[in-house]
Amino acid sequence: MADLHFPEADPAEKRLDEFAGELFISRSTFMGYPVNQKIHLVGFYKWFMGSGLNLTMVNNAGDPFDEEPSHFKLNSLAFEREVLERLGPLYGFDKDNLWGIITFSGTDGNNHGIYFGANYLKKKTGQAPVVYVSEDAHYSSRRLADLQNLDLKIIPADVHGRMIPEAFEKELIPDRPALVVFAMGTTFKGGVDDMDAINEILGRHPETAVYRHIDAALFGGYLPYTEFRDYVNRKVHPFDSIAISGHKYFGMDEPAGFFLTTMDVRDNQHRFDVSYLNCNMPMINCSRSAMIPLKLWWILQHTSQEDFTEQTKGMLETAAWLKESLNGIDWPAWLEPMSNTVYFKQPPKEITEKYGLAPDFDDRLGGALSHIVVMQHVTKERLAGFLEDMKAAAEAETGQSEKA
Ligand SMILES: Cc1ncc(COP(=O)(O)O)c(C=O)c1O
Repeated sequence: MADLHFPEADPAEKRLDEFAGELFISRSTFMGYPVNQKIHLVGFYKWFMGSGLNLTMVNNAGDPFDEEPSHFKLNSLAFEREVLERLGPLYGFDKDNLWGIITFSGTDGNNHGIYFGANYLKKKTGQAPVVYVSEDAHYSSRRLADLQNLDLKIIPADVHGRMIPEAFEKELIPDRPALVVFAMGTTFKGGVDDMDAINEILGRHPETAVYRHIDAALFGGYLPYTEFRDYVNRKVHPFDSIAISGHKYFGMDEPAGFFLTTMDVRDNQHRFDVSYLNCNMPMINCSRSAMIPLKLWWILQHTSQEDFTEQTKGMLETAAWLKESLNGIDWPAWLEPMSNTVYFKQPPKEITEKYGLAPDFDDRLGGALSHIVVMQHVTKERLAGFLEDMKAAAEAETGQSEKA
């Protein structure tokens, strides 16, 4: 007789199933963080499982723009370069003056921006720069200036989350090189630093060597598909490097990003000739993911310019609608130009917990705040439940104030 013994389910798999099930349920109400939960990788994983690559350790230890092949042959550097060459022109980089890497995150990209900027300025002037960044910019720039032991000036931001140009001017030390980190979409309010105003001030100090890095973690993904595309075009608003997250806008399923700069900046870094890799390694990391470039490449192969434009239009229209809907129930809410991030007076705890809403505070706007980042999965249908909850909260608040 055949042995009809069925093995018990693998307990590890069972535990993972429970974990995945819980996350999958939370996903539908997860609106407080800038990550696109419409993942575009189902076809990629089908291909991957049959490809043999799932049995291979692949590693992009090498420079995707080096003409000499890395000695670590099991890499996807060619795909990495293709992704960067496809994206570079969206930000005004010419193909023959483009250098970059795919990073592990937006922070990794900012780390390269600050490191490359500091080295570039040191090489040109013999002096370490001062880093200028607004108080509303992502904390990573402050952390990275600290990590790289650079002098830092934190510039106050206005109520919209933008660096205040007059405050920048007051803090500027003209006889030291300036490494300015522009926030192009602050994390909480979606404020965009006014590059023109800051550049005008810098223009009055021709003696000051300047390196401009843009932290466009979220907005950098979608601005090229909007009427605001020139804000991230270095041919219109000059900058030296830009860092963009890969997992925010593009529909990746793990942290990722990309860092773009020019060959001139790359050529003014310290050389690290590494014989075992057959490469000058300008980047900070040695081992880097070979899977992230393949996934980004897959996404770019399967998403047209029209698809990205359509997705972005949907996000920005829904964000405007959400802001109006909140204002319509007398709930204070704000939306900056170019932004998909609606910020508003903080609702009761049950709501912030249910929808995963991150907190912030600004006493110029009445105190505690929350926000919703309208990514591709945050549709009007999904927001309907949130607005119902908000309406009930607004009515409860009015009832309480009438009683008092
Ligand atoms: C403006 C900005 N810059 C940088 C980061 C850091 O990006 P990452 O989480 O990819 O390191 C974030 C994260 O939300 C951000 O909002």
